[in-house]
Amino acid sequence: MNMRAPFLAFEPVDALAALCKASGDSLRLNILRALANDSFGVLELAQIFATGQSGISHHLKVLAQAGLVATRREGNAIFYRRALAQGEQLGSRLHSALLDEVDQLQLPVEIQQRIAAVHRQRAAASQAFFTRSAASFQAQQDLIAGLPQYRDSVLALLDSLDFAADACAVEVGPGDGGFLPELARRFQRVLALDNSAAMLELARLRCAEECLDNVALQLADALHDDYPAADCLVLNMVLHHFAAPAEALKQLAQHLKPGGSLLITELCSHNQSWAREACGDLWLGFEQDDLARWASAAELNTCESLYVGLRNGFQIQVRHFAKPSTPQGPRAATIDHSQEPER
Ligand SMILES: C[S@@+](CC[C@H](N)C(=O)[O-])C[C@H]1O[C@@H](n2cnc3c(N)ncnc32)[C@H](O)[C@@H]1O
Repeated sequence: MNMRAPFLAFEPVDALAALCKASGDSLRLNILRALANDSFGVLELAQIFATGQSGISHHLKVLAQAGLVATRREGNAIFYRRALAQGEQLGSRLHSALLDEVDQLQLPVEIQQRIAAVHRQRAAASQAFFTRSAASFQAQQDLIAGLPQYRDSVLALLDSLDFAADACAVEVGPGDGGFLPELARRFQRVLALDNSAAMLELARLRCAEECLDNVALQLADALHDDYPAADCLVLNMVLHHFAAPAEALKQLAQHLKPGGSLLITELCSHNQSWAREACGDLWLGFEQDDLARWASAAELNTCESLYVGLRNGFQIQVRHFAKPSTPQGPRAATIDHSQEPER
């Protein structure tokens, strides 16, 4: 008798079953919790959950098959992040509800401590890069995007905002201080804050050269140290050096006065992995929606955006996020798509 192989079709019910299977395991639920606002490589997750690499890989495969996690290549490493529910697809309501429930979970203290250790390792690698390479800073910046390529866009955005005559600005990671003269002209007081003594020395030389007597310099970590709240907080090409950018936005928001503005100039997401080695970048740019989502989670409103396309294929986003004058409840992020980059 001629037996034909059964026809195995992937039915919608299989997708639902995969979702249920993926969520039926406490380690996998904790992985989803850890990925709430962060992304990690397999080795980092193995360290965080004190589980062998092959075990973690298996769990990530199950989560990926259920559409609960997605990957992104950052240099030679693959990073896992949460995947968001897809519109009307079967299971999307369950998917959203699952993530909502998972967000109510408190990760065990030892896991939180290991996540903090992973963040410290990333931050140490970034800081070591700037200690090593302060002398060749300008050449490194020019490999991708130097200040001359985005200065006018940031200034156009800055000058469209209204600040009081006695407003103060904080620039985080001023590098060699190239943007400080512009801030010094526009604000009564400016604080330049960098966690690299070598980089801060470059900024100090610039301030001395240009007699910027309303600029103070502080050797400090913008995310963990204390400094005065600002009317305007500026980060040019700094966020991609932060260990946990989503968490960083929450911390930066604490250093903004009510009604204050956060201006972020960043690379759009790219796949030129050499930037990790050559420029010490921890992240290969950011999706514009991610920045808006993280800002919303930090209780900041997403306002104007400008996009600058560079000849070398990189694209820069200049973003304005505003802290409400009075505290608000959770809101949806809104994005100005009027000047979106061509993709
Ligand atoms: C790529 S440079 C950007 C320099 C300058 N803003 C520019 O656009 O040319 C990044 C700067 O951020 C600083 N930085 C990185 N992480 C920091 C942190 N957690 N706190 C303060 N400064 C930080 C680095 O030391 C470095 O000076």
